[in-house]
Amino acid sequence: MDEPRLRIDIFSIFPQMFDSPLRESILKRAQEKGLVHIQVHDIRAYAEGKHRQVDDAPFGGGPGMVMKPEPIFAAVTQTLGYSLEELERLRREARIILLDPAGRKLDQELARELGAERRLALICGRYEGVDERVRERLATDAVSIGDYVISGGELAALVLTDAVVRLVPGVLSNIESVEDESFGAYLLKYPRYTRPRDFRGWKVPEVLVSGNHQEVELWRRNAASERVAKLRPDLTR
Ligand SMILES: C[S@@+](CC[C@H](N)C(=O)[O-])C[C@H]1O[C@@H](n2cnc3c(N)ncnc32)[C@H](O)[C@@H]1O
Repeated sequence: MDEPRLRIDIFSIFPQMFDSPLRESILKRAQEKGLVHIQVHDIRAYAEGKHRQVDDAPFGGGPGMVMKPEPIFAAVTQTLGYSLEELERLRREARIILLDPAGRKLDQELARELGAERRLALICGRYEGVDERVRERLATDAVSIGDYVISGGELAALVLTDAVVRLVPGVLSNIESVEDESFGAYLLKYPRYTRPRDFRGWKVPEVLVSGNHQEVELWRRNAASERVAKLRPDLTR
């Protein structure tokens, strides 16, 4: 089989959280087709000592624990095949992304940018977050999935992975379904309907069942623009 278009290595202390999401639907198919290779690594396996400690108290005091740098540096460098002395080369050759509420906010543009890469490494924080040296010396990027705090980077890494993988050519069976989506040709997707034509008296717009493709296309374009104006005027600014 050919080399996968994209390799994603994910680093977490809760690797089992990825089991089901990576084994269903589009993410599963993308891996089965050999288009993407996704591997999850347990950061704890790279921690030293009898207790394989991955966190410690923050210097300067304060609540909670902070993820230690050494196991994360070891996990990422060893998995990607570099030594700690080769950090600069590693950072030039792969996008190493720390999931972080203070990072660049994920949007379709960033998903496209990352989808064009060949190699991504995603680092999932837990507790009060990750020792700052991971962001400064190992990560090339920090990415947030939105202005709210969740308990760990795992769900954020899955959101990013899903958004990126569906853009890899060949992953979706019909390429139009990417171009035709929200944030593609249309800023927001037009409303969609399926059978029944009449549900409790709520009818499907007549034009959609007219069989006139030109009229349908025009209706969709107008409906999509109306949606943007009404729901997300900020998208046109
Ligand atoms: C409980 S959070 C730490 C929050 C941190 N104390 C703060 O106030 O910014 C633990 C981890 O969850 C992940 N995380 C939480 N919210 C996120 C978001 N909006 N986007 C991406 N990752 C997030 C990060 O990896 C973070 O290190």
